[in-house]
Amino acid sequence: MHHRHRIYEGKAKIIFEGPEPGTYIQFFKDETTAFNAKKQAVIDGKGVLNNRISEYIFTQLERFGIPTHFIRRLNMREQIVHSVEIIPLEVVVRNIAAGSLARRFGLEEGSMLPRSIIEFYYKKDELGDPMVSEEHITAFGWAEAQEIEEIIVLAGRINDFLSGIFLSVGIRLVDFKLEFGRLWEGDMMCLVVADEISPDSARLWDIATNDKLDKDLFRFDMGGLIEAYKEVAQRLGIVNENRPSYPRGPVLVK
Ligand code: TMP
Ligand code: ASP
Repeated sequence: MHHRHRIYEGKAKIIFEGPEPGTYIQFFKDETTAFNAKKQAVIDGKGVLNNRISEYIFTQLERFGIPTHFIRRLNMREQIVHSVEIIPLEVVVRNIAAGSLARRFGLEEGSMLPRSIIEFYYKKDELGDPMVSEEHITAFGWAEAQEIEEIIVLAGRINDFLSGIFLSVGIRLVDFKLEFGRLWEGDMMCLVVADEISPDSARLWDIATNDKLDKDLFRFDMGGLIEAYKEVAQRLGIVNENRPSYPRGPVLVK
């Protein structure tokens, strides 16, 4: 196999040097971790599904006018992306109380939030990704105040758009995590959505049953992760294993 220069290896993905300057190859592994890698497993086929689901979502975001790092999918496990300078923040958008928010404030899981909430976490595994405020972000120089403002606007637009896409296939977008990067073109810098958006980085519940279709199935040993990720892909109309998608995938008005 052609040897490629490995730039970074994370818990679920590897970043290689890309075919052209300014590009990376993002490889999706089957490694599955939770609780800052205290819990680990290899789940066959997860990387393939996340590659496809993330490709689909980033392509839709681009069509909606949201800039992303995505260029094109290369194969089953890899996509070509723009090399960006990652802002070391995990931007979490929440619509419904779940996970750490429900725990922190003693909210009932599944209760509707009064409005969508955006939170920032400092991306640092050694520290367990602590929650931070805009004060920390600007004081420590992780992002400029103006960038935070732009991130908040983008995150809100992405939330509305993705909530609609998922609703149209019978899925509630409970919460999700975004990462942003700085894409330089000459002296011009543009903030783009980076990393991935997949059932690894979002909570997705079936509207009718509230069944979980995301990584919580692994976090809480509920099983059926691959089946759930396939269900998400099928409903979005990405993969059709001999059955129609739900009912035919969301329709984008062109
Ligand atoms: P949380 O409720 O555990 O804080 O997670 C909020 C959302 O962020 C959920 O959709 C899962 C996602 N997430 C990640 O993508 N990476 C992480 O490291 C964590 C903790 C959460
Ligand atoms: N992604 C984090 C980990 O690998 C946490 C999580 O998603 O639960 O541990």
